[in-house]
Amino acid sequence: MKTQVCIIGGGPSGLLLSQLLHLQGIETVVLEKHSREYVLARIRAGVLEQGFAALMREAQCGERMDREGEIHHGFFIADGGRLQRVDLHRFSGGKSVVVYGQTELTRDLYEARDRMQGVVIHNVEDVQLHDLATDRPHVTYRAGDEIVRVDCEYVVGADGFHGVSRKSIPKDVLREYERVYPFGWLGVLSRTKPVSPELIYARHDRGFALCSLRSQVLSRYYIQVSLSDKVEDWPDNAFWAELKRRLPAEVGERLVTGPSIEKSIAPLRSFVAEPMRWGRLFLAGDAAHIVPPTGARGLNSAASDIHYLYHAMVAHYQKGDDSGLDGYSARALARVWKAQRFSWWMTTLLHTFPDAIAYERKLQETDLAYLFSSEAAQRSLAENYVGLPF
Ligand code: FAD
Ligand code: DHB
Repeated sequence: MKTQVCIIGGGPSGLLLSQLLHLQGIETVVLEKHSREYVLARIRAGVLEQGFAALMREAQCGERMDREGEIHHGFFIADGGRLQRVDLHRFSGGKSVVVYGQTELTRDLYEARDRMQGVVIHNVEDVQLHDLATDRPHVTYRAGDEIVRVDCEYVVGADGFHGVSRKSIPKDVLREYERVYPFGWLGVLSRTKPVSPELIYARHDRGFALCSLRSQVLSRYYIQVSLSDKVEDWPDNAFWAELKRRLPAEVGERLVTGPSIEKSIAPLRSFVAEPMRWGRLFLAGDAAHIVPPTGARGLNSAASDIHYLYHAMVAHYQKGDDSGLDGYSARALARVWKAQRFSWWMTTLLHTFPDAIAYERKLQETDLAYLFSSEAAQRSLAENYVGLPF
C-alpha cells in the first residue's frame, strides 16, 4: 500500500488530521489498533475550546457539535460550603467553551471519513515504524497471518500515551518529563439531570469532585480516589454518597442520582516527550504529552498539535515550504508546556494531596482566596481555560 501520510492511531488526533489533509487533496492512511466500537465506547473529554470547535468546522465535522453541543460562558469552583462562579466570558474578552463529548466528536470524525471514503484500517496488530531517518519511511502491521507494508512520505504518531510511535525515537534523542500524582479519578456517566447547568470543580478535604455533563439529561461526575481503589470498590450508592459529601450542601441536596451507565478509574499524570519530530516522524496528541484532566486541556492540546501539523503539511505539499514542518516541534511544545503548567496548577489548587504538609495546605487555601479576591487571577484562569491562541 502507498500513501503520502501514514497516521498511526484512530483517536481524535489521527482522525481530525486525516480529515483535514484529505480536504486539501493530501492522501492519508489511518492505522488503528482497536475496533471502531471499542474506540467509541471510551468516555473521555467533554470540554472543547473555541479553537478546536473551529477546526472541527473546517474539517466539515462541526454540524452536530453546533446543534447538540452546549456553549458555556462560565463554571463554578466550590470550596467546602462556598460556591463561586468564574465568568469565562467576561474575563476572556467574550470567549466561551463548547461542552460536547469526545465520544460524539470521534463518531462525527469517523462518519466524515466514511463519507469521503477515507482509509481507516482497524484491528491492526504489531505496528512497526521503519526508516524514519530517511526520506522513504514505511510502516508495517500484521492483519491475521499477513504482514502489510505501507510506503509513505511522512508518519504521524497519533497513537496515544501507550502507542508505539514515541518509542520509535532513539533513546539518546528522546527526553521525557513526567509527574505521577498520588490519586486517580473515578468517573461515572448517568442518565440523570445534571446538578448544575454549568460545571462545578469542587475542592474538599475528603478529595476533589467534578460535576460535568454531556447534555441536560446526561451527567458526568468524577471524584478523586486513592490509587489503590478499584471500580468494584465503588458501587453506585457509595459513589453518590461520596460525591454528595464533597459538594456544598445546597448543591448536594439537588443532586439527582441514578444507575451508572459507565464507570471507570483513570490515574493522573503529567508527561511531555521532546522533541515531537524525529526524521519523518511527527508526534501529536497524547502520544507526546499527557495532562491531569483537571483543566480540561488534554484533547484541546491534541487539537493545537493538529492545527500546527495540518498547516505545516499543507504548506509543504502545496507550496514546497518546509518551515512549518521544521518548526513544528518547537511551536507545538511551546503551547504544550503552557497547558502543562495550567493543568498542574488547577490540579494542585483543587486536590487533596495525601502527603501534604500543613504549610502546603495553607498555600492552597491562600491560592483559592487570592483567586476570588483578584480579577487579575480570574482573568488568568479564564484565559487558560478557554484556550491560549494557536
Ligand atoms: P487517543 O484518544 O488515546 O487515541 C489514540 C489511538 O491510537 C487510540 O484509538 C488507540 O487505540 C490507538 N493506538 C494505540 N496504540 C496503537 C498502535 N500500536 N497501533 C495503532 N493504533 C494504536 N481532555 C480535554 O481536553 N478535556 C477534557 O475534559 C478531558 N477529560 C478527560 C477525562 C478523562 C477521564 C480522560 C482519561 C481524559 C480526558 N481528557 C480530556 C484527555 C483526552 O481524552 C485525550 O487527550 C485525547 O483522547 C487525546 O486524543 P489522541 O487522539 O491524541 O489519543
Ligand atoms: C470533563 C472532564 C474534565 O477533565 C474536565 O476538566 C471537565 C469536564 C468531562 O468529562 O466532562
